[in-house]
Amino acid sequence: MTLRTTPPLPAAVPAPDGFLWGAATAGHQVEGGNTNASNWLLEHQPGTHVEEVSGDACDSYHRYPEDIRLLADAGLTAYRFSLEWARIEPARDEVSRVQLDHYRRMIDTCRDRGVEPVVTLHHFTVPAWQHHEGGWYAPDVVDRFRRYVEAAATILDDVRWVVTINEPNMMVNQADARIDTEVGVSWPGPSPHASRVIAAAHHAAVEVLRGLGHVRSGWSVANQDYQALPGAEQARDAWAYWREDFFLEQSRGDDFVGVQAYLRTIIGPDGPVEHPADAERTLIGWEYYPAALGHALRHTREVTGGVPMLVTENGIATADDARRIAYTTGALAGLAAAVEDGCDVRGYLHWSLLDNYEWGSYRPTFGLVAVDRSTFARTPKPSLAWLGSLARAGVLPEPERVPADAGAAVGGPPARR
Ligand code: BGC
Repeated sequence: MTLRTTPPLPAAVPAPDGFLWGAATAGHQVEGGNTNASNWLLEHQPGTHVEEVSGDACDSYHRYPEDIRLLADAGLTAYRFSLEWARIEPARDEVSRVQLDHYRRMIDTCRDRGVEPVVTLHHFTVPAWQHHEGGWYAPDVVDRFRRYVEAAATILDDVRWVVTINEPNMMVNQADARIDTEVGVSWPGPSPHASRVIAAAHHAAVEVLRGLGHVRSGWSVANQDYQALPGAEQARDAWAYWREDFFLEQSRGDDFVGVQAYLRTIIGPDGPVEHPADAERTLIGWEYYPAALGHALRHTREVTGGVPMLVTENGIATADDARRIAYTTGALAGLAAAVEDGCDVRGYLHWSLLDNYEWGSYRPTFGLVAVDRSTFARTPKPSLAWLGSLARAGVLPEPERVPADAGAAVGGPPARR
């Protein structure tokens, strides 16, 4: 396959020493055939609101060597992927050695290619049995999760970066979600109870991982870049607490915190405010807003008190790869400015390596690599080579500071942050 010419690099500054450059995926979104997981059940329940089933996904369960090769050949140095609890513990207390070996081979493949594995232990799905027992509401879920982490830890001998739980703050919404076949999914709001349970599960996982001695552990938080309209600062802070800040506070004792930023959310006195109708939207309906990443890094530093940060996700759903490069340039320019202003950022992992299953549909394409839905053939997009060339050169785009100006977005005076 011939790539078109790699787009030119932007004016640049050196990246921090040892900066990780990579891309991320998650098991259920790329592996395929994840038939024993909670989301598979949700996709197949009668009258489901889910548009498309995950099915064979990208067949990465079998094709991961090709995925890792593409990433490494482009010049990237890190691959974030997740282990599926549903495969490792297919039934309560039954650990599959074969599945652990499978994930161990993925780690070895990364090592063979000079790629740093960043392993996520939990990315949204739970095993069907855990789902039937109440998921994150099951009375013994913290203990169950700890046992799963103990099983997973047996293959993590030389792994240096482990994300315990992906976006617990989004999962709390999911844990409380009511699925109505008429109106779709409704989220009544975050649950402090479920938040505390998930935090306890995270701390239990960190304790197990600390026992290994060499692992840097943390969880990854979905950062929403909450911006207040003038006068709505208190409403913004109250809105953000159980949706983001509680989870950042839980990271204070961790080795790192994963920052995942895509967009901003504008808060008025009564909650979120619509973006103007003429705002550019991505394929998933989000506002095109690359500055979210820099803002998220600064906010995370403020709440955690300076815990090292790893960008574990950032990207854009678009069919226009030039737009992906423009978005990523803006996001990295915000990251560079945050670093210049003292933020401790250890790396950038783009979401996503592949066009994958976006929790209900294959339509929003986030990938640096396209995947043919019937042959599973991979076609790298120019953005893959572009990101890889930044990695090879060890540079970030020139720092850019974009004020968090919610007022201007909805036509009012600028908000202070
Ligand atoms: C999740 C991914 C998801 C991405 C884009 C994050 O919330 O961790 O699984 O695909 O955002 O929606």
